[in-house]
Amino acid sequence: MNILVTGGAGYIGSHTCVSLLDKGHKVIIADNFYNSRKSTVKLLRQITSKEIPLYQVDVTNQSAVNKIFSEHQIDGVIHFAGYKAVGESLEVPLTYYWNNIISTLVLAKASRKYDVNRFVFSSSATVYGDNEVPFVETMNPLPTTNPYGETKAMCERILLDFSRANPKLSVALLRYFNPVGAHESGLIGEKPDGVPNNLMPYITQVVKGKLEKLKIFGNDYPTKDATGVRDYIHVVDLAEGHVSAIDHIQKGAHVYNLGTGRGTSVLELVKAFEKANGIKVPYEFVSRRPGDIAICYADASKAKREFGWTAKRDVIDMCRDAWNFENQSKSLVEYK
Ligand code: WQD
Repeated sequence: MNILVTGGAGYIGSHTCVSLLDKGHKVIIADNFYNSRKSTVKLLRQITSKEIPLYQVDVTNQSAVNKIFSEHQIDGVIHFAGYKAVGESLEVPLTYYWNNIISTLVLAKASRKYDVNRFVFSSSATVYGDNEVPFVETMNPLPTTNPYGETKAMCERILLDFSRANPKLSVALLRYFNPVGAHESGLIGEKPDGVPNNLMPYITQVVKGKLEKLKIFGNDYPTKDATGVRDYIHVVDLAEGHVSAIDHIQKGAHVYNLGTGRGTSVLELVKAFEKANGIKVPYEFVSRRPGDIAICYADASKAKREFGWTAKRDVIDMCRDAWNFENQSKSLVEYK
């Protein structure tokens, strides 16, 4: 199938493009490189030896998006393009609501206009709010602590109502947990601009010597070792989950957790990183980060039951691949 991947130069989007191409699909990328690099598309062509049509566009622009649909026979859309920093969303909520919601409406309207009936949406476990773990798809989303999470919940509602009005349409709403790691080549991975918010890139930059030591946000949580627990999932497993979703998608709108079903604490991840790479991670405990919850992990059984997908890689694989990418990423300068 021909799949339009918005945000296809981003962290999860780029890995999903590799998995789609490896599975025999064709990929068209739409990205404005706000939170990604054009050089990543070159690396995707290098990794896959496939041609990848690229549109440098803002997917809130209806005419620019319609042009893509008019120039390609698109069979499905995977919509990653969106702002995703929890803290930033609290500072600029209107920017988040505009970008994340208008882009989804623009793509849904284009899908309707060009009779494209497979739509996969990049959602987030954030929409569960402070439900009880393990998070299950049948739970009602609860108010989140931030505009970013609210945009994800609103986009899910928009696509649910869109599917109810269009019997031909199949929608998969994929709720991610904590994506980490990188492609085995080490050519693509998570490379945030500035100081990383997320744990794994912070660890790799500490070990690389770019940052002094890891600050562990809180060691007074009601968890196994008093540090925060999350469901870390290898980004390639997550990418493969998108391919399964677009291949096996059913009519109507369906929510799926893409997680491993296992909770890992910050300290456990640090120890796994040290074991996987034979290297120490210097750290110190500091106060909790506002907005963090203690424990978050998935019930991942529905995706397995309905489209035969489960995560295959463990935290050692995630730590090894994340470090491999960090080590190689210095060589990407020539890809500017
Ligand atoms: C993980 C754990 C921190 C950094 C966020 C978004 C979520 C999704 C994934 C988009 C927590 C601790 C972290 C550090 C630390 N993004 N930590 N020191 O907050 O679970 O989820 O990213 O979809 O929507 O909310 O991920 O990696 O920031 O934190 O101790 O320097 O690591 O307290 O327990 P989080 P994270």
